[in-house]
Amino acid sequence: MRNQIGKRIAELRKSFCMNQEELASKLGVTFQAISKWETGATYPDIELLPIISQHFHVSVDYLLLGDEMRSRNYYDQRYRQEEYYWGFQPSDLCYLVLKSMPPIGRLRLLDLGCGEGKDAVFFARNGYDVTAFDLAESGIEKTVKLAEQIGVEVNAFVADINAFRLDTQFDIIYSNGVLNYIPPERRKAVFENYQRYTADNGINILSAFITKPFIESSPEKETNSFMWHSGELFSLYRDWRLDVCEETIFDYLSSGIPHKHAVNRILAKKVGT
Ligand SMILES: C[S@@+](CC[C@H](N)C(=O)[O-])C[C@H]1O[C@@H](n2cnc3c(N)ncnc32)[C@H](O)[C@@H]1O
Repeated sequence: MRNQIGKRIAELRKSFCMNQEELASKLGVTFQAISKWETGATYPDIELLPIISQHFHVSVDYLLLGDEMRSRNYYDQRYRQEEYYWGFQPSDLCYLVLKSMPPIGRLRLLDLGCGEGKDAVFFARNGYDVTAFDLAESGIEKTVKLAEQIGVEVNAFVADINAFRLDTQFDIIYSNGVLNYIPPERRKAVFENYQRYTADNGINILSAFITKPFIESSPEKETNSFMWHSGELFSLYRDWRLDVCEETIFDYLSSGIPHKHAVNRILAKKVGT
């Protein structure tokens, strides 16, 4: 069997925007050792595997076997049902996009973690040029199916928000209910990339689940979900114009159990100097 551990370490290191020297100093090894793992010439010491896995928020199983993030995704199974888990009603956030940047020209919109595509398809119906991704393959299949049924085009594909990096510009970066899958340590790098690849006068419109001491954690109990702190999302956009910047608490019924969620929402505009 080919040495895949090294390949996965290289992918994780890059998604954390680290060079080999930086990772080497965190793990107490030489950068030549990292380079040898990554080219498949040698394997890391077995004792280092838990340290590496902890550092990158993945399990040792993932380092050894791969593809674990996908099977850990709570929604992949749920989306395999015929019916649409999230229904077809677009999220409220979609209307803020329409209001802030109506599709009078060709506007490129990216939906991060599009689920089964209800929002992505809504945007496409309204004339936006939509790209969308999600970790759940079943969600992407349903997104494509919904777009076909409605007769619109959505460029939808499977990707992990933690590994995927933009290299082309978008006018609108949109995400509803997904940012909790980015571990705190990765947020800065992920958002630097989004902000860099937002066109001038473009917007980022995002919601993030936050912790509040008086709200119990959600019944989904996902091990790969990391709540944000109140205000954390706003602080990442302190240099942008904040047209919407709000905190709300609402009742929810996902997984059939009534519970509450607290969210921060932001509509931030990249205004040139
Ligand atoms: C609460 S749902 C929101 C879905 C959609 N945005 C909506 O509003 O209908 C969270 C979504 O995040 C996706 N997700 C979880 N981890 C992810 C990751 N690492 N990368 C991309 N998407 C992820 C799930 O598959 C799921 O579709």
